[in-house]
Amino acid sequence: MSRLLDGKVAIVTGAGHGIGRGHALELAKHGASVLVNDLGTEVDGTGSGRDADATVALITDRGGVAVANYGDVGSERDTKEMVDQAVETFGRLDIVVNNAGIVRDRVVWKMTPEDFDLVMRVHLRGSWLMTHFAAIHWRSIAQKAEGPVRGRIVNTTSGAGLVGNFGQSNYATAKAAIAGLTLTTSLELYSIGVTVNAIGPGGLTRLSATIPGFDAAIEPDELGDDEYHPLDPAGSSPVVAWLASDEAQHVTGQVIRVLRDRIYLMEGWTEAVEVASGERRWDATKLGTVFATDIFKTRAPGLRA
Ligand SMILES: NC(=O)c1ccc[n+]([C@@H]2O[C@H](COP(=O)([O-])OP(=O)(O)OC[C@H]3O[C@@H](n4cnc5c(N)ncnc54)[C@H](O)[C@@H]3O)[C@@H](O)[C@H]2O)c1
Repeated sequence: MSRLLDGKVAIVTGAGHGIGRGHALELAKHGASVLVNDLGTEVDGTGSGRDADATVALITDRGGVAVANYGDVGSERDTKEMVDQAVETFGRLDIVVNNAGIVRDRVVWKMTPEDFDLVMRVHLRGSWLMTHFAAIHWRSIAQKAEGPVRGRIVNTTSGAGLVGNFGQSNYATAKAAIAGLTLTTSLELYSIGVTVNAIGPGGLTRLSATIPGFDAAIEPDELGDDEYHPLDPAGSSPVVAWLASDEAQHVTGQVIRVLRDRIYLMEGWTEAVEVASGERRWDATKLGTVFATDIFKTRAPGLRA
């Protein structure tokens, strides 16, 4: 019986734990060979280890094909090597899932520039670097006309980036930028057959366990095959597997949140309400009347009903 991703080769970054582990297991279940990347850091990005090995062992124990990579997604050299390793080991590359992530939450007046830079480095630079090297690879194949490229990039954004979250000015900025990266690279890559989408997942992981009020982390493999948990870290993994498949060629440039048993298509910035028109040059001293409308009162945090 043919499976959704038979013959495909995928890279999943940050797949040693949590949501990334769920994606790697799901892609392998549908027939993909998986390069399981993980730097093996703590949740705040410190340290390193061989956490990818546990996910590789789970995949191979279940009859799948996987290889470990311990690189840093923020490193130009490591990300290039990841693409090279996938192609050298498995002969091709079809799917990149940019999932690796850390948090360093603090209100903006307490956050250090280092907290900002490291979170941006892992989430945003990491997603850009992987996209950059995968795009170079796929473009060279398209130019040699070795057949249609059906490349797939699935980025990872978050509610924090899409609607804001207190204490996460670094993380939310990176996650919002990842939505922008998705929109632009989907435009740039579609003509060579590559789709780029972003998912906003949810789940009880080491990362969510840092937020007060969230339950302890569970790893996706701790749940039985048919066991449903609304905050299973692998809850969004079937959507990632489908977006990675040939069936999804018509879906690109989308931001899709997968929360509990719901799939939401996010809408981006739009010109929602025209608040004024007609002046060729606005007079700052008269704009107070334009902005006196109640719309702004209902939108300001703290003034919201
Ligand atoms: N957990 C949630 O509810 C939630 C919600 C929205 C978005 N996300 C996003 O999902 C993704 C996965 O998070 P998670 O909750 O599974 O956390 P997690 O801590 O369980 O997994 C993240 C993995 O990324 C790895 N990693 C960190 N820095 C890396 C680097 N520089 N290079 C390679 N690997 C690195 C870590 O070692 C870890 O294994 C993140 O992008 C996160 O922002 C999570």
